[in-house]
Amino acid sequence: MSNHLARVDGTRVLADLHALRAIGTYKTGVHKPTFSEPHLRSLQWLVQRLPEAGLTGEIDGIGNVVGTSTKAGPRLLAGSHLESQNHAGWLDGPLGVVYALEAARVINPDPNTNGAVEVAAWCDEEGHFGHFLGSRSYVGGVTEADIDAARDRSNDRSMRDALRDAGLAGRARARCERGRHIGYLEAHIEQGETLESSALKIGVVTSIVGIWQYRITFTGEQNHAGTTRMAVRKDAGLALARFCVDIDDRFPVTCGPRTVWTTGRITLDPGAPSIIPGGAEMLFQIRDDDPAVIERLEDLLRSMAAEVDKQGRCRVAVERIRTGTPALMDGSFQQAIEAASAALAGGKSLRMPSGAGHDAQVLATVMPSGMLFVPSIGGISHHWTENTADADIVTGAEVFVEACRKLLTR
Ligand code: GLV
Ligand code: MN
Ligand code: MN
Repeated sequence: MSNHLARVDGTRVLADLHALRAIGTYKTGVHKPTFSEPHLRSLQWLVQRLPEAGLTGEIDGIGNVVGTSTKAGPRLLAGSHLESQNHAGWLDGPLGVVYALEAARVINPDPNTNGAVEVAAWCDEEGHFGHFLGSRSYVGGVTEADIDAARDRSNDRSMRDALRDAGLAGRARARCERGRHIGYLEAHIEQGETLESSALKIGVVTSIVGIWQYRITFTGEQNHAGTTRMAVRKDAGLALARFCVDIDDRFPVTCGPRTVWTTGRITLDPGAPSIIPGGAEMLFQIRDDDPAVIERLEDLLRSMAAEVDKQGRCRVAVERIRTGTPALMDGSFQQAIEAASAALAGGKSLRMPSGAGHDAQVLATVMPSGMLFVPSIGGISHHWTENTADADIVTGAEVFVEACRKLLTR
């Protein structure tokens, strides 16, 4: 412990993170898709820890855990997620849940701190079945029909089947009570190299990007790969490949300084080398913290599709399948993190936007929200080698708990 202000137990924080890493281990990371056995076991692990912090909670009807307190005074909600991307890192999600748990363990029994920290693990932040399903359910943004429609992107299992197999079917879903919390605070690894490359310890998040996602479908003509002359082919796969290159050539002229775009899964139909693909599909994502920039790029995408259509070989359809509003983090939360970092991390902090999506952007639609980052070694994340130095994890926990205390006592 580096300072008397925060009675954080760094050894306990690291032990908790390693306990979660031991559930669903994959190489040096974890493999915990939403509603997999290791994800559910991690949620149970959290439920069992809650009483240590004076909290009670259960896994709800969408796989969230929200531990609540009966202590008088203001309440701060804190948390993150416990499922992972496939074959990914051990800290993306669990770091924020364990920091929240530690804050609750330190602050809730403390008679000198008015109020309590309540702890949440939001389900499916990593979007195996949708996007932010758990936190969106908590703020009232997920209908029963949305759950009926949700399917696991890796194996097509329906969310209803997953909930039934997990024993969660029919359970009530936790819902946000307006006015219950003074706000929401989430900690996360940075997942980039900004902090590490400047030898900084704490990122004070100013905004979180919006994530817009598309299904782009190409329709050509399926035919024999040996007998159809190159000049007359309507190869949907080739049209898709050209389209990807065209995006990379033309987006830089229209994008903003921090816009990023990524092509995800590409499928060719039928995808056999002896058959010219008559159909092709790509999943495509754009991120920016300015919706106007994303709208401009979407217009460009649609006009590029129209150009391909006009050439007459293949039809292209652009369907938007996800819109995520960028979120601004609350100014007073940023100040609290910065002040805590001045007290406990030598002021080695930086205000910065988040290029990754986080549940805080959903919670920010109903309450003031803030986020704190700790450095990621080599900026690697969404990969099993993701890591953060132990000392940085402990410093982050101390700053997080102190920021919680400041927010509750201001
Ligand atoms: C969240 O993990 C994201 O993809 O930004
Ligand atoms: Mn995450
Ligand atoms: Mn992630």
